[in-house]
Amino acid sequence: TKVDLSIGDLEKGDFEHYMLKEIFEQPNTIRDTYRGRIRKDQDEIVLGGLIDVFPKIVQANRIIILGCGTSWHAALVAEYLIEEYARVPVEVEYASEFRYRKPIINPGDVIIAVSQSGETADTLAALKMAKKQGAIILGICNVVGSSIARETDAGVYTHAGTEIGVASTKAFTAQVTVLTLFAFKLAKERGQIDAATLKMFINEMLEIPEKVENILLKHPHIKTVAAKYKDAVNALYLGRGYLFPVALEGALKLKEISYMHAEGYAAGEMKHGPIALVDDNLPVVVVSAKDDYYEKVVSNIQEVKARKGNIIAVVTEGDSGLRTMADDLFEVPESHPAVAALLTVVPLQLFAYYIALMRGCDVDQPRNLAKSVTVE
Ligand code: AGP
Repeated sequence: TKVDLSIGDLEKGDFEHYMLKEIFEQPNTIRDTYRGRIRKDQDEIVLGGLIDVFPKIVQANRIIILGCGTSWHAALVAEYLIEEYARVPVEVEYASEFRYRKPIINPGDVIIAVSQSGETADTLAALKMAKKQGAIILGICNVVGSSIARETDAGVYTHAGTEIGVASTKAFTAQVTVLTLFAFKLAKERGQIDAATLKMFINEMLEIPEKVENILLKHPHIKTVAAKYKDAVNALYLGRGYLFPVALEGALKLKEISYMHAEGYAAGEMKHGPIALVDDNLPVVVVSAKDDYYEKVVSNIQEVKARKGNIIAVVTEGDSGLRTMADDLFEVPESHPAVAALLTVVPLQLFAYYIALMRGCDVDQPRNLAKSVTVE
């Protein structure tokens, strides 16, 4: 594969597949998504599309975030961020469940739909229902002028550019970028974090594109590891906290493009079932960061190793502890745990891509899937 990394205007011609091109675009698309939304002196987040409704959002007693698939995973990251830093109760739901299960919606509730295409039938229908019941409805969409963007009271576009690969990659990191800005802005306006903390988080965000570039440069290593596991039948992905949604997203990427059965789990749930799957044929991808869960993740790895499972660990650079325990490592630069999802997902996108490629799958157009699911 010709993927010498020169981040600039990337043409499909430089890449074998759109998916690979889109993975490599992420330093730019993340930057494009926060550009203009972080003030020059880096002490304020401005979300132009939400200016009129933000006072109501600050007052909201509850935020519900809806999505499907990858967009639902981005929403889960936001649930952890908003509850930890802005201290507003958040519920994340599959739009397909929410629209039919007769949920309780109170006037003044804020409902955010996350959708790359802005055309997903379930998400659109769920929003329309919530709108009728008096909720404030917001959209985080990639496609400008899409149905969801038009239906919502206000919103923020992700500036990921056109995503062609059916497996969503750059749209996910752009969604997480917008949701992260939203969470920190809400935290500040609700008086839950001070100016210095906001500035620290803004700086963490500004460092993400370069860190993603650094991960992308390691693509030859990720490809080598993929070659080792390409014939596995099942794979398990584990993560905790902000990295639980990353485990779900890594597993979804693998299953949708390589057709290898993969399951993402909150690592703490392993002993409640999935541990029964572990044997010497099972690759277990463990997503870790230097966060409060680190020690717990170490014990999950020990439990897998004791049953002869193979560990592929996503770790923070320089983490010598996991280096000795894991069979294979994907290193990512250090970051604050609250933004670590944006980094740790990248090697998992590449891992899925290379495995699918080596299994001879149609990476950009996987069987049975459509880019936008406009029917139920
Ligand atoms: C992701 O890789 C999938 N192809 C799929 O889960 C997708 O995220 C889902 O259909 C939602 O689409 P949307 O973001 O356009 O609403």
